[in-house]
Amino acid sequence: MRPRDRGISAVKTGVKRLLGRTGFDIVRSTNNRQGVDDFLPFEATMRAARAAGLSVGDHIDQVMNGTPGATRSTVDRLGELGVFAAGPRTVLEIGPGSGRYLERTLKECSPERYEIYETAAPWAAYLVETFGVVARPADGAGLAPTPDASVDLVQAHKVFNTVTFLVAARYFFEMARVVRPGGRIVFDVMTENCLDPAAMRAWATRGGPGHDSYPAAMPRRACVDLFASLGCTLEAGFLAPLGVASTEVLVFRKET
Ligand SMILES: C[S@@+](CC[C@H](N)C(=O)[O-])C[C@H]1O[C@@H](n2cnc3c(N)ncnc32)[C@H](O)[C@@H]1O
Repeated sequence: MRPRDRGISAVKTGVKRLLGRTGFDIVRSTNNRQGVDDFLPFEATMRAARAAGLSVGDHIDQVMNGTPGATRSTVDRLGELGVFAAGPRTVLEIGPGSGRYLERTLKECSPERYEIYETAAPWAAYLVETFGVVARPADGAGLAPTPDASVDLVQAHKVFNTVTFLVAARYFFEMARVVRPGGRIVFDVMTENCLDPAAMRAWATRGGPGHDSYPAAMPRRACVDLFASLGCTLEAGFLAPLGVASTEVLVFRKET
């Protein structure tokens, strides 16, 4: 059964089963690099979503972030840009967390294989159980278990503005390595397009406290030039909400 079918049929029972378990016994440990897992503590997020009667993705968009429909709008935009048009057979996502983009992606396409690299073990286990995805061992900056040129769509959402420059840069090289010719690379970064004076003021005065690596900025030009040097052409860029301001979603296509 494809991940999408498994996901749709399993999502309700999977969540119910997980939530019904006292102590969340599938949770083994959390490799909580640089404290970023603090953004999405597994048990508290699940509990709050259940109390609000929302899916975990909708709870994060509506309640935690105050941006209802944000995930759907980004994935819809990717659809309009043709990212799912060729029917990607293999998808790889870095840092899927709660799976809010993963779940929407599985509504847009039916990959035979959906790999994730997620350093927060509780979220990875939940996604494997709920959506039938394959969790690869995440060392925090590499995709070594995934062969070269083997993935049709490589994506990461709201990850590269929560990690350090070096982690993001190392992942960029890996994304370009694993994508197939003709495949897409999609990720968001907080570029200069997101940092006008009003946005700078908003972050400075109302930015989230306590996370040394968030929000991390990344020059757009550096991304575009790097991916061009790796045979990936920028197809589109658009803004999406991030915290008190925005992030820029970039879509690249690997040359055939
Ligand atoms: C801000 S959350 C975003 C989660 C999800 N993509 C979303 O938008 O809802 C960042 C995610 O990246 C994961 N993460 C952080 N550092 C990572 C790394 N070095 N490699 C893989 N995942 C990482 C975190 O555990 C978390 O799930």
